[in-house]
Amino acid sequence: MPAPGGPPRRPWIVGVSGASGTPYAAAVLRALLAAGQSVDLVVSRAARLTLLDETGISFRDAHWREDLARWLARGADGKPGTFPVPGLDAVRHWPAGDLGAGPSSGSYPARGMIVVPASTASVAGIALGLSKDLLQRTASVTLKERRPLVVAVRETPLNRATLKQLLALDEAGAVVLPASPAFYAGATHIQDLVDFVAGRALDAAGVEHGLYRRWSGELGAARQS
Ligand SMILES: Cc1cc2nc3c(=O)[nH]c(=O)nc-3n(C[C@H](O)[C@H](O)[C@H](O)COP(=O)(O)O)c2cc1C
Repeated sequence: MPAPGGPPRRPWIVGVSGASGTPYAAAVLRALLAAGQSVDLVVSRAARLTLLDETGISFRDAHWREDLARWLARGADGKPGTFPVPGLDAVRHWPAGDLGAGPSSGSYPARGMIVVPASTASVAGIALGLSKDLLQRTASVTLKERRPLVVAVRETPLNRATLKQLLALDEAGAVVLPASPAFYAGATHIQDLVDFVAGRALDAAGVEHGLYRRWSGELGAARQS
């Protein structure tokens, strides 16, 4: 529905699946909101387990705003209240089991989708077009509509089936982005490593952000002298 008096809402869809790495999702969400983007959020059933394990937060469909605010405020080092809680008016949440939700249709005006973190199960589901839940269905829709799809896979090592599925995703037009932080951007804290991966996911989606220091061509030793 068009915003009264404004342009129609065109959200980025963020799918959070049940791989380790819920701080990556929080960093992507904070940066999208800071960039003035609207966001549709889908949190898989398994992601609720990883979120509980990694943060102690139970993500409840009925109280998603409150739970998301706690999640986004939390630093990757576990400190609550590290980040100011952004206004969540730009966020719409869809239960993962709601296959009739807006993003399940190609006519829904999404900009694209970032799956962060992406489990190997979701990678398989998306690559095979299984559409077992709203996250997988929305990713399939994103591909068929030729919209940007970024898949931040988190698993190590990778078996051959997953490697083939990642290749299939690349061939279908997705950006496969291993959640693999780099250490050249002056990282000193765990949050820097998280922000690097989140920033690369946003680079792939074409969203402006200031999450990490870009490579300038000068080696670290030269930077410090
Ligand atoms: C604490 C915890 C951590 C997990 N970490 C990973 C992981 O890093 N990568 C992965 O592919 N699966 C991981 N899994 C397994 C997935 O959650 C499982 O395959 C699940 O079926 C994924 O479902 P989804 O893709 O629908 O979210 C983890 C599970 C738990 C409980």
